[in-house]
Amino acid sequence: MNSGFTHITVLLEEAVEALAVRADGCYLDGTFGRGGHSRLILQNLGPDGRLLGFDKDPQAIATGQALAAEDGRFVIVQRSFAELGSEALERGIAGKVSGILLDLGVSSPQLDDPERGFSFMNDGPLDMRMDPTRGISAAEFVNSAPAEEIARVFKEYGEERFARRMAGAVVARRETQPFERTADLAEVLKVANPAWEKGKNPATRAFQGLRIHVNNELGDLEAGLEAALEALEIGGRLAVISFHSLEDRIVKLFMRKLVKGEADNMPRNLPIRHQAFEPRIKLIGKAQFASDEETRANPRSRSAVMRVAEKLR
Ligand SMILES: C[S@@+](CC[C@H](N)C(=O)[O-])C[C@H]1O[C@@H](n2cnc3c(N)ncnc32)[C@H](O)[C@@H]1O
Repeated sequence: MNSGFTHITVLLEEAVEALAVRADGCYLDGTFGRGGHSRLILQNLGPDGRLLGFDKDPQAIATGQALAAEDGRFVIVQRSFAELGSEALERGIAGKVSGILLDLGVSSPQLDDPERGFSFMNDGPLDMRMDPTRGISAAEFVNSAPAEEIARVFKEYGEERFARRMAGAVVARRETQPFERTADLAEVLKVANPAWEKGKNPATRAFQGLRIHVNNELGDLEAGLEAALEALEIGGRLAVISFHSLEDRIVKLFMRKLVKGEADNMPRNLPIRHQAFEPRIKLIGKAQFASDEETRANPRSRSAVMRVAEKLR
């Protein structure tokens, strides 16, 4: 399936370098997308190396299947990376994975294709699901959820200051006509938003909130990070690329907790095994950003931040 929409891979060389790919290693790409990172990982693998790709999106899966047909070292599954622990167990690679990459969020084809319903710029059906066969669409959510829940999603996941007011407008409008299209919702949000930020569509934050909610993006990230830690072998690498502060905060706190050792967060009077004081990971370098050259060529890379860790135990 080739939709004609393309995705420019962000931090391509940097992410694959961060994984320190071993020719005979076993790697997981939790967010295959259009396979930019996966292809470069495969180039660094020898004949005994293996790569397992995950994606929720049917078009990403179709691209992955075409790649798997050409390259016997690669397999793709339509599954959330939140479930990579079960997948690793089923394949007998739990605790044996040499490197895991998560390049979070949506791909450009998902945003650019109006039919996927992510865009307030191009009108389309109000869907926003990465996997349109699972869960509820954005339209179902805004047409049925209580106003407080919609406001929470706009505020917590979209960091929208006028969340309550905008959620109120959505609920008032759906009484007479339920939402079906992205442009219709964007228009209602625009009118309800009293403070337009310069250079930003007034529906941007609310749309981001809806997308994160509909795809359970933050819940999947938390589960995926825990699962990744268990799936890695000692010395295995985890590289995570985030695109907004909510994601990056989760990644940063997760890594910080493991660098300190679990005991750091426990009450002082509890008896604690010696091992609990030892770090489970070490950080590899500092947070990494796209170069000026990359941000000029691909504006989407401007918000990218990559954090890398190595499993110690
Ligand atoms: C930024 S793109 C990845 C692009 C890819 N690295 C490339 O170079 O082509 C993110 C991809 O991850 C997928 N995705 C997001 N969250 C996911 C999850 N929890 N599980 C599996 N796939 C996910 C999206 O469907 C999308 O295709």
